[in-house]
Amino acid sequence: MRYLTIALAKGRLAKEAMKIFERIGISCDEMKDKDTRKLIFTNEEHKIRFFLSKPSDVPTFVEYGAADMGIVGKDTILEEGRKLFEVLDLKMGQCKMCVCGPSSVGKKLKSHELIRVATKYPGIATDYFFNKKRQTVEIIKLNGSVELAPLVGLSEVIVDIVETGATLKENGLEVLEEIVPLSARMIVNQVSMKMENDRISRIIREVRTILEEG
Ligand code: PRP
Repeated sequence: MRYLTIALAKGRLAKEAMKIFERIGISCDEMKDKDTRKLIFTNEEHKIRFFLSKPSDVPTFVEYGAADMGIVGKDTILEEGRKLFEVLDLKMGQCKMCVCGPSSVGKKLKSHELIRVATKYPGIATDYFFNKKRQTVEIIKLNGSVELAPLVGLSEVIVDIVETGATLKENGLEVLEEIVPLSARMIVNQVSMKMENDRISRIIREVRTILEEG
């Protein structure tokens, strides 16, 4: 039997995902060692390999079949636009992609004035403004702390993830429009879905049962 390879977006999501895999009997103690610099972790009993990668790389590994499956946020799936199957909503890390800014910008946004939009997600922002809203905007790509942009005059609004809303509130910003709800998803390579259907379907089924049990 060949190894089934699962890519996990590193960070909190990977830890939560491993808890789920443990509950369906696929554990990986090697991964719990905080000091390890290893990148690949193997469960010999089930012939499953896990690896951790930068979230935005998970869909790439899965599209090319370097990973059969992956766990990653819906934000990353939308932004990367890779060819893959999204098979399960894990309901973890629930948040929303939103257009945010100071309340004073609300009018400008509604009247379709040309505004600048700062974001880590230029793909999602472009799709939302140009395709969905038919609104011309200037999109500026940032790599983090996006809330800074309207505060220092880089842009009128941002497109970013809102979870508790605390970051917005502390910086005098608010949600102006909601784009899409987000959460962690399980994704599968399109060829693996056929070639390893038994093993993959079983994992999907077992994880779904765990999620339903709560
Ligand atoms: C994310 C997001 C917001 C914040 C939202 O940032 O970009 O800044 O979390 O969470 P809240 O609504 O609960 O305050 P992250 O911490 O991932 O880092 P970043 O600023 O570098 O993107």
